[in-house]
Amino acid sequence: MAAASMFLLVLASAATVVAPASAAGGDNDKETHIKLYWHDVASGASPTVVEVARAAVTNTSKSFFGAVMVIDDPLSEGPDLNSSSSGLLGRAQGTYISAGKDELSLLMNMNFVFQAGKYNGSSVAIMGRNAVFDAVREMAVVGGTGVFRMARGYAQARTHTFDLKTGDATVEYNLFIRQ
Ligand SMILES: *[C@@H]1O[C@H](CO)[C@@H](O)[C@H](O)[C@H]1NC(C)=O
Ligand SMILES: *[C@@H]1O[C@H](CO)[C@@H](O)[C@H](O)[C@H]1NC(C)=O
Ligand SMILES: *[C@@H]1O[C@H](CO)[C@@H](O)[C@H](O)[C@H]1NC(C)=O
Repeated sequence: MAAASMFLLVLASAATVVAPASAAGGDNDKETHIKLYWHDVASGASPTVVEVARAAVTNTSKSFFGAVMVIDDPLSEGPDLNSSSSGLLGRAQGTYISAGKDELSLLMNMNFVFQAGKYNGSSVAIMGRNAVFDAVREMAVVGGTGVFRMARGYAQARTHTFDLKTGDATVEYNLFIRQ
């Protein structure tokens, strides 16, 4: 319980720190499109997603309402994480919480941290609602660092593969960023 409320506190303060980007606009905005694959690995000896809190009530099993997960998920250019040509780009680090009481709907709060490729050393902050059974889920790009300073935009997520047995998921993310 203490852990859960601390996370909510952290999330709440994070939300206040992320001020809306100044409405710069204009014709000089640079647009960047990035397509990559996000791998939530729940199974095996080295999972990249861990559950850190769960609600005490058990009448929410359908939506996992109240569960808090921490992720350090690999991001790759290609969909197959195991292929040597998948092209590891970085990590998605953060949390997602099950915020839907009656349907599975997540609040994603994560940084895409680039550790290779032309964006190596930069990051993009993403926050938004992820109703995982929808074909396309849209989330906000609320900021960035490095080459993505002052970024704003949106991300679209599409499930590539989801293994019901293991919980492993691969999701295609398309980021549309303006600066
Ligand atoms: C579980 O939730 C449903 C719908 O919200 C409700 O009808 C039911 O009584 C609840 N069951 C228990 C054991 O609380
Ligand atoms: C990747 O490899 C791991 C371990 O070698 C295996 O458990 C997993 O099922 C593989 N994933 C895919 C998508 O092939
Ligand atoms: C990414 O940048 C770091 C720091 O500059 C560097 O050490 C590393 O080798 C780079 N990684 C790749 C894959 O280019």
